[in-house]
Amino acid sequence: MLLEVRDLHVEFRTREGAAHAVNGVSYAVDAGETLAVLGESGSGKSVTAQAVMGILDMPPGRITGGRILFQGQDLLRMRERERRRIRGAGMAMIFQDALSALNPVLSVGDQLAEMFVVHRGASRKQARARAVELMERVRIPAAAQRVRDYPHQFSGGMRQRIMIAMALALEPALIIADEPTTALDVTVQAQVMELLAELQREYRMGLVLITHDLGVVADVADRIAVMYAGKIVESAPVRDLYKAPAHPYTRGLLDSVPRLDRKGQELYAIKGLPPSLLRVPPGCAFHPRCPMARDVCRTDEPPLYTVSGSRGSACHFWRECLDG
Ligand SMILES: Nc1ncnc2c1ncn2[C@@H]1O[C@H](COP(=O)(O)OP(=O)(O)O)[C@@H](O)[C@H]1O
Ligand code: SF4
Ligand SMILES: [Mg+2]
Repeated sequence: MLLEVRDLHVEFRTREGAAHAVNGVSYAVDAGETLAVLGESGSGKSVTAQAVMGILDMPPGRITGGRILFQGQDLLRMRERERRRIRGAGMAMIFQDALSALNPVLSVGDQLAEMFVVHRGASRKQARARAVELMERVRIPAAAQRVRDYPHQFSGGMRQRIMIAMALALEPALIIADEPTTALDVTVQAQVMELLAELQREYRMGLVLITHDLGVVADVADRIAVMYAGKIVESAPVRDLYKAPAHPYTRGLLDSVPRLDRKGQELYAIKGLPPSLLRVPPGCAFHPRCPMARDVCRTDEPPLYTVSGSRGSACHFWRECLDG
């Protein structure tokens, strides 16, 4: 397995107490596989990713339990030097906002070239040539000229392509893309997502694709992990999950996505808001919002039940949910 997150716990110390941002998350991604991590804002998707990348704000963040295995090695037990090497060449991250992730005072060509100079010992000239190649690879028009431009001179979609190029530069085994298209217009979103999926296949990378938009993942992901209040509540192959969700929260998310085959039907949005992580409801954290909730849901926390070999649901009534 390329990446395995096992029972990860992350807390943030706040004035009002410990906020359990990640509360026993486990997921795995293999080479050539795309895992979509889905959930509303605040569910712990980014914090999990930051723990994997080793870029979590500590303090106030603290990893209080679990393991993160990358190619079998536990990242949480590794020396910082080794960790940094993996962060450079083994895994890379793509963020939502390229403008704040890229250096505003360096041309994009210099930023790309820097990767090859620092990590591959390339000469300036070789590095510059590689930078242009990469920009062509992510389909930046007139790459040979635009290599001298600064990040703010590109459109949002083009900047996102440049960030993808940066992430790809050292051909990492794993890419974590955290809402890579959320800031873009819908048409540009689809193009950038297609490009990312194409490169992922070509390089046989593992891809963790974080999103709050279920519409984005249908065509590109192999598996989906749905997060709610710091936990994974459903984990399944994409096709199974689309056919029939095994958790009411997933059902709510699916019913909030406009679908061609359900034209004319009113969009259903999940009522209410996700809980504060300082005061997660007892029992099933989703119970105050769940249309299927019963007494047991308010007292007994559901474990991640096995639905089938590779599928799990943290709902006491997953069978009923599955049957629709
Ligand atoms: N640097 C931080 N300091 C304090 N709390 C944080 C910090 N980063 C994240 N959190 C808290 O952790 C929770 C999960 O955040 P995050 O993983 O960013 O959610 P999302 O699923 O939207 O990516 C949020 O409730 C947020 O308030
Ligand atoms: S355990 Fe109960 S409250 Fe939680 S999702 Fe299932 S039915 Fe809803
Ligand atoms: Mg996030």
